[in-house]
Amino acid sequence: MTTSNNIQLLVIGGGGREHALAWKLSLSPRVHKVFVAPGNAGTAHETGLENVPLTSIPDLIEFAKKEHIALTIVGPETPLAAGVVDAFQAAGLKIFGPTQQAAQLETSKLFAKEFMRRHQIPTADYASFTDPVLAHQYIDHSPIPLVIKADGLAAGKGVIVAQTREQAHAAVNAILVERHLGTAGNEIIIEEFLQGIEVSFIVMVDEHSVLPLATSQDHKRLNDGELGPNTGGMGAYSPVPFVSPELHAKILRDIINPVIAGMKQDGRIYTGFLYAGLMITPDDQAKVLEFNCRLGDPETQPIMLRLKSDLFELIDHAVNGTLHSIDIEWDRRTALGVVMTAHGYPDNPRRNDIIRGLSALMSQQKDTQDFHIFHSGTSMGGLDDKEFMTAGGRVLCATALGENIRIAQQNAYKLLENIHFKDYHIRLDIGHQAINYFKK
Ligand code: AMP
Ligand code: GLY
Repeated sequence: MTTSNNIQLLVIGGGGREHALAWKLSLSPRVHKVFVAPGNAGTAHETGLENVPLTSIPDLIEFAKKEHIALTIVGPETPLAAGVVDAFQAAGLKIFGPTQQAAQLETSKLFAKEFMRRHQIPTADYASFTDPVLAHQYIDHSPIPLVIKADGLAAGKGVIVAQTREQAHAAVNAILVERHLGTAGNEIIIEEFLQGIEVSFIVMVDEHSVLPLATSQDHKRLNDGELGPNTGGMGAYSPVPFVSPELHAKILRDIINPVIAGMKQDGRIYTGFLYAGLMITPDDQAKVLEFNCRLGDPETQPIMLRLKSDLFELIDHAVNGTLHSIDIEWDRRTALGVVMTAHGYPDNPRRNDIIRGLSALMSQQKDTQDFHIFHSGTSMGGLDDKEFMTAGGRVLCATALGENIRIAQQNAYKLLENIHFKDYHIRLDIGHQAINYFKK
């Protein structure tokens, strides 16, 4: 167990999830500094955080050794898929995340589906194909809608929900014939379409036990009313009212625990954050849509605002295999985050628009933990490098607490009234499913 009170940590990544993680870690009285690699303009301006412009695994290892980093936390899937955890562990460094082999739960959708079939974990029925002719035949004989998924990591572009057979055939051609996704599309899954409400169920896992985080819900479509293309996530809130205590217990019993036990049985011990994207079907059953081997973005932003426990203590326990000995405490209020995206997102986001109104909010938030603007695609530019500029598709996530979902929603949208950049886009209905649920 780490006992020092002058601890330095490293967070790998540069999005909103990493800003939220690093901010929360920096609030631990035992943490002196959190380095973020590479970070963004938000992490650059946060007390107790420091950006380091590193992304390659050897550079990160050298840095962690030089700075006596007590613990490294990995945000995104790409470094996990590249084996960052294996490499840090081989270098004798503490790191929280799954090994490359265990991360296959996310990096290969086919691995995940075969794993779930083998271990009787509830998920949509499917068939897999490398041959487009067989895939087309299968589509001709299956009820629609159908969901076509590329096996490998495709930055959110690998899943097509086909409402018609023509769309399904076109998706097969795009992935297996025209190779739009490269090797990520060497194999595809064609999956039964599930109806219901999506929930993000995220847990912390060590070698001996599982600690669930608060439930959350993302909003993946670009436009209000769940319309438009899929995105990385346009907003999220926590907790989710649809997950009753009974359903929560059932998800742990029938999904999370069998996944962890199954991975152990298969010789791929899973440690790190594990994200199960679930569909809650109209008969109140939970089925797995996908696994992620990391926290969700933007789910992490509201989750971190609600976390009252010391995140460093939690992760320190997890890397030492003593998660079972610690409780986790949540703010009973609701947190809700709304993502502002750049013009052209998700296909072709424009960069380098000046963002106005951020500095005032960012000074106010130093004195409160009731709201926070978490940056994603931002950098410094303009005159003397003093202006916040857009530098990616998802630019920031304005996140606020409120007594209930409606007040949290109002508070988050009030923050956004102060922020402006050219042609920005936001959804106006983040939290609508929870709000409707309470209206009933
Ligand atoms: P995934 O990356 O597998 O989570 O898929 C991205 C999105 O596609 C999910 O968040 C769902 O909205 C949708 N999706 C994936 N699989 C299914 C399915 N079997 N039925 C309905 N929607 C799905
Ligand atoms: N919010 C969805 C994800 O992080 O994959």
